Amino acid sequence: MGKKRFTVTSALLYANGPIHLGHLAGAYLPADIYVRYQKLKGHDVAFICGSDEHGAAITLQAKKEGVSPQEIVDKYHELNKNSFKDFGINFDIYDRTSSQDHHETAQEVFKLLNDQGKFVKKTNQQFYDVENKQFLADRYIKGTCPKCGHDDAYGDQCEKCGSTLSPEELINPKSTISGNTPTLKETSHWFLPMQNHENWLKKWINEGVFDGEKTHNPKDWKSQVVGQCNSWLDTGLKERSMTRDLDWGVKVPVENSEGKVLYVWLDAPIGYITATKKYAQNNNLNWKKYWKNNESELIHFIGKDNIVFHCVIFPIILKEMGGFNLPTNVPANEFLNLEGQKLSTSKNWAIWLHEYLSDFENQQDTLRYVLSATSPENKDTDFTWKDFQARNNNELVAVFGNFINRVIVLTNKYWDGLVPERTNLLQYDKEVLESINMSANKIGKAIESFKLREGLNEMMSLARIGNKYLAETEPWKLIKTDEERTSTILNISLQISAALSILCEPYLPFTASKLKKLLNINLQDWNDISVDLVAANHKINKHEHLFKKIEDSEIEEQLQKLNS
Ligand code: 2FM
Ligand code: ZN
Repeated sequence: MGKKRFTVTSALLYANGPIHLGHLAGAYLPADIYVRYQKLKGHDVAFICGSDEHGAAITLQAKKEGVSPQEIVDKYHELNKNSFKDFGINFDIYDRTSSQDHHETAQEVFKLLNDQGKFVKKTNQQFYDVENKQFLADRYIKGTCPKCGHDDAYGDQCEKCGSTLSPEELINPKSTISGNTPTLKETSHWFLPMQNHENWLKKWINEGVFDGEKTHNPKDWKSQVVGQCNSWLDTGLKERSMTRDLDWGVKVPVENSEGKVLYVWLDAPIGYITATKKYAQNNNLNWKKYWKNNESELIHFIGKDNIVFHCVIFPIILKEMGGFNLPTNVPANEFLNLEGQKLSTSKNWAIWLHEYLSDFENQQDTLRYVLSATSPENKDTDFTWKDFQARNNNELVAVFGNFINRVIVLTNKYWDGLVPERTNLLQYDKEVLESINMSANKIGKAIESFKLREGLNEMMSLARIGNKYLAETEPWKLIKTDEERTSTILNISLQISAALSILCEPYLPFTASKLKKLLNINLQDWNDISVDLVAANHKINKHEHLFKKIEDSEIEEQLQKLNS
């Protein structure tokens, strides 16, 4: 198979607070696993992310902390960028939307579309907070959701049922700045007439056909993503304002637009393009091959609350700009709950990544493992500290770690660290060896189709096969009577260990590099996986533990912290 090209984006994270486990499980860890795998396969991938630094999410947090929006985004951009890096999320670029470059790119897009008459300018009455002299859109206004009755819905979206809303649809609206009931005031805005795009969107979403060309197989998309898109398309799209009356954001680049900025959901996805341009510039590449080339695949990793923006609004913008790729998949995840309850930043019901990293030093892979094993791929799932401990102790330590430990210790003990020969193979040996290539295929297929939990299970199955093989053949006993047979068993176990050092890398990159160090190998290519990864007489290193047992006291501490 030839080399492919992928542009993979993870939702730009609002720089209004630290990253928590819900974020990670939704849009970041799955993307990192996918990208690491595609890179190991030798494909060209641009992995794009950054901070979303505009919108009410930022200005409201600034008000709460009593500082300027710029101070808020500076603080959280740095914190989040570092946490991602320390956790091994390997973005090719972690950009920010408050940068001058991004303002310019977003303004160019707006001007281009405006000049071509893609927006409709309209004057109407909008909610206004008289006390704060501010128009109220998006998160500046809250009320009861007209669709599901949730009494805490925002002016743009209900987080309970996922409906996209406009402020005037809210029942009993209130300003989130003052709590006051708003009045109405006249204002003008640029609207995107989304209703004009229903037909092609339906064809693209349901048939995978755009502009007469096959773009993707709709069966490859998650059914809940296609389902959500169809429910909007069937209800009928409406025009949506692409500008706001605010002073924080990208200024509207046309005359008579004083005090107006771009709607954050127009500006943020354009941030993916700005970031790609910067990445390309830094690496002497042409950004267009990642966005305007039908040999590239565009894949957006997001949480389910972002589906409409990535499957309807942004595709309309991409189409209207002309020549841009549409996403070939949007593998949106459901939500991760915590100890049976919805994660909540305001109620401090969350586990913050930077705190995890300082409490569990060098144990990034345990969290990566548990979040992958409980990934909310098709339905909401639950993270519990007890499950975290059990998976670490019973799976990573007792299976993966135990297998590797035995192989390394025995090779050092009986062969002075030199890989022994493999001679006469029994049927069992052949079956075990065959499982190496079979695992590589199964894991690869699962990751390519965004079934990351399945891929993880396959990877662990190989570790289990290795662990069982040793337990059943007992080379530590056999050495006394049959050196040749012991040598074959250890050789096979070492081949499995070497295969695991690549196969686990998308999920457990820190473990993969420790394991490569133990085996004294530097395998970088998934396509090289075979039954002959380490040659006889190759010298390996002394053993070191890959994983550490997690004690009850550590879990108690975390539970107390959560409930305090
Ligand atoms: O929902 C959010 O957290 C947004 N900050 C995601 C933006 S994704 C993209 F469009 F940039
Ligand atoms: Zn609702």
